[in-house]
Amino acid sequence: MDEIVIQGGRRLDGEVRISGAKNAALPMLAASLLTGGRFCYTNVPDLKDIESIRQLLCTIGAEISETPDGLTVDTTGLNDVEAPYELVRKMRASVLVLGPLLARLGRARVSLPGGCAIGARPINMHLEGFSRLGARITLEHGYVQAEAETLTGSEIFFDVPTVTGTENLMMAAVLAKGTTVLRNAAKEPEISALADMLNAMGARVSGAGTSTITIEGVDRLIPATVRVIPDRIEAGTYMVAAALTGGCIRVLDADARHMKALIAKLRKTGTDVDPGEHAITVTGRRPVASVDIKTLPYPGFPTDMQAQFMVLMCIANGLSMVSETIFENRFIHVLELQRMGADIQISGNHAMVRGTARLSGAPVMASDLRASACLVLAGLVAEGTTRISRVYHLDRGYETIEEKFRSLGADIERVRQNPKIAGGSGTKPVSGRTSPEN
Ligand code: EPU
Repeated sequence: MDEIVIQGGRRLDGEVRISGAKNAALPMLAASLLTGGRFCYTNVPDLKDIESIRQLLCTIGAEISETPDGLTVDTTGLNDVEAPYELVRKMRASVLVLGPLLARLGRARVSLPGGCAIGARPINMHLEGFSRLGARITLEHGYVQAEAETLTGSEIFFDVPTVTGTENLMMAAVLAKGTTVLRNAAKEPEISALADMLNAMGARVSGAGTSTITIEGVDRLIPATVRVIPDRIEAGTYMVAAALTGGCIRVLDADARHMKALIAKLRKTGTDVDPGEHAITVTGRRPVASVDIKTLPYPGFPTDMQAQFMVLMCIANGLSMVSETIFENRFIHVLELQRMGADIQISGNHAMVRGTARLSGAPVMASDLRASACLVLAGLVAEGTTRISRVYHLDRGYETIEEKFRSLGADIERVRQNPKIAGGSGTKPVSGRTSPEN
């Protein structure tokens, strides 16, 4: 299994180009199942999760080929309606095929995702929404089966805004008879990107980006050519890296309009953030001021940036209260940060972070994607060597992260545990990426 080894303490300066957003590409790729034909995608990130959805689409019968600047997906001849357990357990977002398959073929069978490291993450609101559109939902042998001769537009109220739930229901409703209104819908930029794609396919979706989305069902859709929006969480991670190391990083291709909550908080820490048309320039200043953060649905502070921002608070001047309101178990990184000398007390969904002068490098273990990014950031600012294990989580969501950090001046390297050399220093550097454990 790979490890990332970092010699910390270097200031990071330079330019880094942001990739396409994983969480926008996943629903946009699933949307290709809505109608037969050839879809063209550009700015698709090269990530494990994208590999997983590609595998799933191919299992269902899509033909996918790589082009110099992206992917084409041909969904003319589908031969299956099932997302098997082996794929869903690798990536929960596999449930995004439910909506489009139900809309196009009237039937879908998807393995129910189990719990995950950051929380229980049920999909009850997706399923209740499909029922409201007239689908029969049954659960058997760990699989959800959804069936409907016709879907009929309806009013759907989400108890809490759900990102993939909103996406799934939008995709199911575009071919339904009549009008669907989604209330208390999620407002993330990835939802608006999916709505734009659906409208380019001939759908009639309005209000995406607000809490009320209206979908007027149409009889047919056509394939589209689409570009994936930039990844605001990847961009945010590099922005925090500048603040953390006191460097100056130009984050290219990032969209500052999608990052207002993070930018406001970074500025309160004393960090300079200068959003330009094609790049955001972030300059770290000392001392770093402590600020409180509370994760909330968009446009609030993103839960996917909580762990990374917490590292900045670990070296800030004073006390910071970090409150996590989206997922019930998203503080696993705290235990690892404590091993690096961070002073953090957890009480329920609050973490009280007392800034310390320094973090010290240590062997640590990644538990999920954003916790892994947090440990990389901690390693970059810590004194000495940090070894991060279970880094396959990183490959799900950060394209060429070591290369990108190295180009900014970081001393970071991926090493592969060599099973033939038992114990001791049985590791060797690798240049490429390897498959995750699961
Ligand atoms: N929830 C329910 N029932 C449902 C759906 C959600 O109770 O049917 C709860 C969840 O347990 C959670 C809250 O509602 O407490 C919000 O969850 P949401 O459904 O919005 O999360 P998601 O759609 O499963 C997406 C991202 C996550 C990101 C969250 C929150 C994708 C593929 N995933 O997940 O991204 O953290 O929204 O913004 O878009 C990541 O990229 O690292 C990641 C975890």
